[in-house]
Amino acid sequence: MKANDSKRKVLVTGGTGYIGSHACLSLHEAGFEPVLIDNLCNSSRRVLPRLQELSGQSFTFYEGDIRDRELLRSIFAAHQPWAVMHFAGLKAVGESVAEPERYHANNVEGTESLLQAMAEAGVQRLVFSSSATVYGDPDLVPIAESAPRRTTNPYGQNKLDIEHMLERLAAADERWRIACLRYFNPAGAHASGRLGEDPNGIPNNLMPYISQVAVGRRPQLDVFGDDYDTPDGTGVRDYIHVMDLVEGHVAALEHLQQANGFIPVNLGTGAGLSVLELRAAFAAASGQDIPYRIQPRRPGDIAASWADPSRAKALLGWQAKRNVRELCADAWRWQHNNPQGYDSE
Ligand code: NAD
Ligand code: WQD
Repeated sequence: MKANDSKRKVLVTGGTGYIGSHACLSLHEAGFEPVLIDNLCNSSRRVLPRLQELSGQSFTFYEGDIRDRELLRSIFAAHQPWAVMHFAGLKAVGESVAEPERYHANNVEGTESLLQAMAEAGVQRLVFSSSATVYGDPDLVPIAESAPRRTTNPYGQNKLDIEHMLERLAAADERWRIACLRYFNPAGAHASGRLGEDPNGIPNNLMPYISQVAVGRRPQLDVFGDDYDTPDGTGVRDYIHVMDLVEGHVAALEHLQQANGFIPVNLGTGAGLSVLELRAAFAAASGQDIPYRIQPRRPGDIAASWADPSRAKALLGWQAKRNVRELCADAWRWQHNNPQGYDSE
């Protein structure tokens, strides 16, 4: 790294969100300077003092929407970022079915606006938050990047539309360097217990739901189906610790120094865990009882999904390091210390 590169700035869209906030810390630790933009539609300003406390630095934060082209122009002019990590987006599958236009406008048009501002500013390094949702109901597990892409809901369609947009850009101009990271099931929290997942309302995802049962905010877990073709009948997923995930982003950013084009990479552990296995691991890590009842399947759910993470290892030199015990212990520390999330203090 050249001396004047020592504090390369990275614009982090969705920087106060769950994954974006952890990514800011990881970037800082790797010697980058994150600059955050978020419209706070699904996150809290209270993340910012926590980031300062953990990093010893006050990161620049812009409250605003990635569809605000003037704002983006001024941010690019002021900071001349070396790269962009793009997390900003709406992510609730059920909501996307009810409000597909809002999802398209926010996710797809928001990304178009960002790419336009990047092109104008000559910034062509991008790490994008894609999702294993682009594999739909897979024919095979583990899932490799070459698996067919198909979607089952508007949120997934947004991710697929964006992936296609990024592929077209990279094909048209070889200066683009785009890591398209397909996350499996991010979970857990920073080991300090100061940053974590803080969903609004009733959690859609399993891990925050289990955590809220453990801390007494909800009476029991509803297990959506026990008649899948899996060892115990409940859904199997690849839960990846959020710190492993964001370290994978930093590895991808480093990779973009030497690689160009559109580079899709799975970020997962390579192992699947059932709903009941995750519940048991969380109960053991927290020492809390987690009552549950079996409910009908959730519409649109698939039986099993886990990653073939070999490309990430070969290309980025990255693999998940944290096991399910650490995942649950860290999620519990966060939930226990912040029973109401960022509103706890
Ligand atoms: P999150 O909701 O916590 O973070 C997203 C952030 O983006 C929020 O802070 C929100 O306020 C902000 N935002 C949304 N639209 C915006 C806009 N138009 N302008 C500015 N800010 C905006 O979600 P997360 O879990 O941190 O997810 C980050 C990214 O990763 C998303 O793109 C999501 O689709 C993707 N992803 C998440 C998961 C998961 O399970 N958490 C899995 C796969 C992919
Ligand atoms: C995991 C398992 C449920 C909640 C979703 C999105 C996907 C991606 C990650 C962004 C399943 C079961 C859940 C509950 C339960 N997001 N479950 N009770 O469905 O793999 O993926 O989040 O890209 O696009 O679809 O994750 O955490 O919702 O569910 O039994 O209260 O837990 O049926 O088997 P999923 P999840």
